[in-house]
Amino acid sequence: MTSVVTSADRPVAKDVPQQAKIAIEGVTKEFATETGDTFVALTKVNCTVADREFVSLVGPSGCGKTTLLEIVAGLQAPTSGRVLMDGEEIEGPGPDHVVIFQQYALFPWRTVAANVEFPMEVAGVGRAERRERALEYLGMVGLDGFADHHIWQLSGGMQQRAALARGIACQPKVMLMDEPFSGADAITREILQDLLARLRKETRQTIIFVTHSVDEAIRLSDRIMVMGTRPGRIISTFDVTDDLRDHGDRVTELREAIWSVLRNEIVPIAEAEERT
Ligand SMILES: Nc1ncnc2c1ncn2[C@@H]1O[C@H](COP(=O)(O)OP(=O)(O)O)[C@@H](O)[C@H]1O
Ligand SMILES: [Mg+2]
Repeated sequence: MTSVVTSADRPVAKDVPQQAKIAIEGVTKEFATETGDTFVALTKVNCTVADREFVSLVGPSGCGKTTLLEIVAGLQAPTSGRVLMDGEEIEGPGPDHVVIFQQYALFPWRTVAANVEFPMEVAGVGRAERRERALEYLGMVGLDGFADHHIWQLSGGMQQRAALARGIACQPKVMLMDEPFSGADAITREILQDLLARLRKETRQTIIFVTHSVDEAIRLSDRIMVMGTRPGRIISTFDVTDDLRDHGDRVTELREAIWSVLRNEIVPIAEAEERT
């Protein structure tokens, strides 16, 4: 049987201080609406991410995945609650917790290598070492031979790989990824997923990964957090192991379990929308 652990069963951050790389504690986010009301985008989100863990956030659109990721990135402040990294409160963006967005935001006027070198330039790494490391990271993502190409000479999938190499070049403690592959066609997406799985084994990176593909989450994660909407919150957590991934029947069972949680979230929304 697939074990289904709800977020309510999990210990909150203060019970597991040693291993929590990221601790999200009681995070609530409200936005003021044009009509003067308050819109609650996230309510009391509690979860921890262990060092080297790969956690996916899955949920219907509008459930607050991007908002939560941006709060962890320090790009937005929570209305209440806090996020700790290694026990220190995150108060702003920084190179130790970088975000890779769907729009990979490479600099079009720079070569591929110069894009990968950029975070090292900011960090004050010398020219020769920068170049050497950029070439190494480009090798890791299968872009050997493209170092001196311009961004516009690369396909979308290759640009996303260059963005991954740039993310690795930051050597962040935590990599935050917001639907990084959703713009890719199906085949490119498979290639990028394989690449990320492999990179992750090599770098042992802690990753929080937003996707709305259940299969992508199952393929890549150690743990999947399913979010619900109105208000956005974590409703269930599922553990995934390599052993489970090796057994098609258990994957099918897990996929079904996740979808049944998601359906419970999505169907009432659709019905409410039909009524209005
Ligand atoms: N700056 C903002 N002002 C007002 N509402 C916002 C803002 N950012 C996000 N929201 C709302 O918060 C909810 C969650 O958004 P988001 O985090 O982008 O969801 P997701 O990434 O899961 O699709 C949505 O209903 C969105 O409209
Ligand atoms: Mg989003």
